Amino acid sequence: MHEDVECVLLDEEAIRAGIDRVAEEVTKAYEGKDFTVVSILKGSCIFASDLIRRIPIPLELAFVSASSYGSGTESGKLKVNFLPAGNEIEGRNILLVDDILDTGRTMRTLKDEFLALGASTVKSCVFLDKPSRRAVEFDADFCAFEVEDLFVVGYGLDFAGRYRNLPYVGALRPEAQARVARSAEQSLTAQAARS
Ligand code: IMP
Ligand code: MG
Repeated sequence: MHEDVECVLLDEEAIRAGIDRVAEEVTKAYEGKDFTVVSILKGSCIFASDLIRRIPIPLELAFVSASSYGSGTESGKLKVNFLPAGNEIEGRNILLVDDILDTGRTMRTLKDEFLALGASTVKSCVFLDKPSRRAVEFDADFCAFEVEDLFVVGYGLDFAGRYRNLPYVGALRPEAQARVARSAEQSLTAQAARS
């Protein structure tokens, strides 16, 4: 286990079992329909790539990049960095895939955006759901695991850009959180000084 991780919440075996279950649900829901899996970068890249390899029916893959302002543990205003091309959205059945459904702002904003751009249907699939943190109304159509109100990292989930590569999901030690936050702030200050 990484020294900054206090405890493992989901190990590789548990993750595999959860993804198998969700993949089966998604397969049943889209059997006989064309659909596009849209991975929300960066956090969902690992979940989305494991998920699609367990879905045996035809699908297309696209990416959207969205991020909250700020790098702490609180999500702020959403910024959409890029979207798929219009012809990848219009008239398509879209399955938005994210690492975690927290306040719900990311999914709410992107779902509305894809519908406004002419998607036929938009469903959502999340690796983790933290229902206790919801700030806007949003229910995921597919979800691998529910988690309590804890800041978690690994399997795509980051803190200040780190820990995405851990193969399990764990809770960060508070002292590691403080140290990484300090170093992220220092590099931002250094960057600002150079520009
Ligand atoms: P929402 O827009 O508040 O639902 O937040 C979704 C985004 O917040 C996710 O895609 C994550 O990037 C980030 N996030 C929320 N909770 C956590 C967490 O516990 N660990 C890491 N990232 C998180
Ligand atoms: Mg993130």
